[in-house]
Amino acid sequence: MQPAGLAVLLVAVWCHAVPAIADVQPEQRNFEPSTDPALFAFDRGAGDGGLYTFDNLSVAQDPRAYRPDVGALDFVYHNHEEMTRYLRATTARYPNLTALYSIGKSAQGRDLWVLVVSASPYEHMLGKPDVKYIGNIHGNEAVGRELLLHLIQYLVSSYGSDPYIKWLLDNTRIHILPSLNPDGYAASKEGTCDGGQGRYNSRGFDLNRNFPDYFKQNNKRSQPETEAVKDWISKIQFVLSGSLHGGALVVSYPYDNTPNAIFHSYLSQPSLTPDDDVFKHLSLIYANNHGKMSRGVACKTASPSFENGITNGAAWYPLTGGMQDFNYVWHGCMEVTLEVSCCKFPPAYELRKYWDDNQMSMIKFLAEAHRGVQGFIMDPTGNPVERAQLKIKGRDIGFTTTKYGEFWRILLPGVYKLEVYADGFVPKDVDFMIVEQHPTLLNVTLQPAKEAAEYSASQLPGASYDRPLTPTTPIANREPARPNAANQDRLIFTS
Ligand SMILES: *[C@@H]1O[C@H](CO)[C@@H](O)[C@H](O)[C@H]1NC(C)=O
Ligand SMILES: *[C@@H]1O[C@H](CO)[C@@H](O)[C@H](O)[C@H]1NC(C)=O
Ligand SMILES: *[C@@H]1O[C@H](CO)[C@@H](O)[C@H](O)[C@H]1NC(C)=O
Ligand SMILES: [Zn+2]
Repeated sequence: MQPAGLAVLLVAVWCHAVPAIADVQPEQRNFEPSTDPALFAFDRGAGDGGLYTFDNLSVAQDPRAYRPDVGALDFVYHNHEEMTRYLRATTARYPNLTALYSIGKSAQGRDLWVLVVSASPYEHMLGKPDVKYIGNIHGNEAVGRELLLHLIQYLVSSYGSDPYIKWLLDNTRIHILPSLNPDGYAASKEGTCDGGQGRYNSRGFDLNRNFPDYFKQNNKRSQPETEAVKDWISKIQFVLSGSLHGGALVVSYPYDNTPNAIFHSYLSQPSLTPDDDVFKHLSLIYANNHGKMSRGVACKTASPSFENGITNGAAWYPLTGGMQDFNYVWHGCMEVTLEVSCCKFPPAYELRKYWDDNQMSMIKFLAEAHRGVQGFIMDPTGNPVERAQLKIKGRDIGFTTTKYGEFWRILLPGVYKLEVYADGFVPKDVDFMIVEQHPTLLNVTLQPAKEAAEYSASQLPGASYDRPLTPTTPIANREPARPNAANQDRLIFTS
């Protein structure tokens, strides 16, 4: 049974209600990093995570040119069994840098593997961002899947020799899901550049139309692959994400959908987020570091060309139920869609060229998780405030703190105001500045509401805090969700 979209939204709102501070268990009040096995079972025995401190977050250096370790990973396509073997072999060979877990199974029972690459693969590093790449959500878009396997190889084999990669892995946990649609991949054919065979999961659903939607009701029956992602990103707070596709050469950024009801035309209106400057910047980082994307050359004469190799999703073509809008609106994760090949499933001998074109982009994009503001929300005794609701003033899509009170938000240089709201505390606004060179560290202490009420009664009679922020209640000020015509499924635009 498919709950109506509105019900899905209401459930999402309910799930994200801020718990009273008393609901935070004593052990969660310590600033101890969690061990992910509580969330997802790792494929191997426990490893020893490390806790690192921030000292230098410069992202100025370039990664060295990668010389692939052909013995470990050749430039060929890997089916599910081969991919599984490769991931297991990598965790065996690099036990201090990698951990393998499954977020669930595909409709046909294939594991949805995630490999974490980090100096702390088994444990979240306090104060440091978790980021992710997702490949192969469309099963026949196969290049991203292999690029992610090579990214893994590049990261683990460069850690000991490349200071930039060492810095990245010492300060970031990179979760890599090479194939979200292994069933679709199994039904796809190498050498097939266009068409839809293998695009869908084994039940015929387009997984990138299967998420709750900000603008419209999505009546599609939720699929196991989609559920696995929703569960995953509700348990690990990702700061930044890229979803790899094929069929075009462009970075597409939210929103994918639009409040406008009609979307038949190719040249639609842009549907911009309040973080449009950040999304454009992230997209340009990828496109500008890519071998050819920023030239904006059309894949075919009949295809669109994209200025600087980036586009707003809805301006290209609107869609309902996409993954990137869901990441951003529901979880405050900045996700973009990376279209990395004109041909969806090119012959294997072309894979090396795709790697060369994307290698720098994939690294530089992830490092952007260290741009902006980050810190902790605490009570007066220094305990973390979990699920505090945060918003950058003027940007109406919010985000929340983790159970350790941590938060991150990617922002470009400038002056901002952080608005903090948490049940039982006096809301607080904090001014801060972002510079280019390093992230801004910002710790905020909230005062309990009761004491503050006395204080404000005597000192601040005019103070008014009547605007609970609603970062995960994406309905406010929107026209009501309306059932949507079947035309969303039209396969005109299929990248
Ligand atoms: C921090 O990064 C800058 C720029 O790359 C570098 O010059 C400096 O030596 C680094 N400092 C430390 C402590 O690593
Ligand atoms: C992993 O780290 C431990 C502790 O630092 C070290 O003793 C061990 O040699 C490392 N193992 C590998 C394979 O690098
Ligand atoms: C912010 O709070 C965290 C957690 O208590 C602490 O480790 C860190 O040193 C603080 N940073 C600053 C700049 O005060
Ligand atoms: Zn696609």
